[in-house]
Amino acid sequence: MSEHVAICVLSPREAKERIGALSAVLIDCVEGGASVGFMAPLSQERANSFWKGVAESVAASERILLAAQDSPDGQIVGTVQVVLRQPENQPHRADIAKMLVHRRVRNRGVGAALMRAAEEAARAAGKTVLVLDTVTGSNAERLYTRLGWQKSGVIPNYALWPQGGFCDTTIFYKQIGQ
Ligand SMILES: CC(C)(COP(=O)(O)OP(=O)(O)OC[C@H]1O[C@@H](n2cnc3c(N)ncnc32)[C@H](O)[C@@H]1OP(=O)(O)O)[C@@H](O)C(=O)NCCC(=O)NCCS
Repeated sequence: MSEHVAICVLSPREAKERIGALSAVLIDCVEGGASVGFMAPLSQERANSFWKGVAESVAASERILLAAQDSPDGQIVGTVQVVLRQPENQPHRADIAKMLVHRRVRNRGVGAALMRAAEEAARAAGKTVLVLDTVTGSNAERLYTRLGWQKSGVIPNYALWPQGGFCDTTIFYKQIGQ
């Protein structure tokens, strides 16, 4: 990965303070055509409201929020979440969500570094099984496969592209402990 990018876990306070920067990354991904839960165009207000909810969830210890920060100005260029809060019969499991890298820093290993850090954070939180879903045939699918994630299967027409039209989704899992 670029030596100028560092991965860190955001504290509840940082998560709240960096809402604007996180929104900028999310909006860029949606503008770039990524199917990540939102339709286009995604307004700053709607994106901020999403990250406000994430910051509250971080404050409630329900999830870990990681950020890739560019030095020297600390600008956020990527992010991913580990969703810790699960049903009481799945305390060992976490979901990985909202893996986002700004288009201007892609293909430099930032996504892989974020995912490795997310797996490490999940392991440190006592999780042993991780689950995620992603658009079938996407850059992200290649990334997860490269990092040793197992493909469970494909759900046709699971979601919409931001501009409309169905896309298929692949469910992945990874065992990160016993
Ligand atoms: C999926 C996503 C997170 C990947 O982020 P990224 O930072 O580009 O990921 P990486 O740089 O680790 O890997 C991407 C590619 O760059 C290549 N790469 C990594 N470092 C490199 C380097 N130094 N030089 C050249 N290529 C490099 C990787 O091999 C990989 O190649 P591939 O696409 O042919 O498989 C990013 O494309 C994204 O945000 N997409 C939109 C949102 C999205 O779909 N998120 C997934 C939701 S589940």
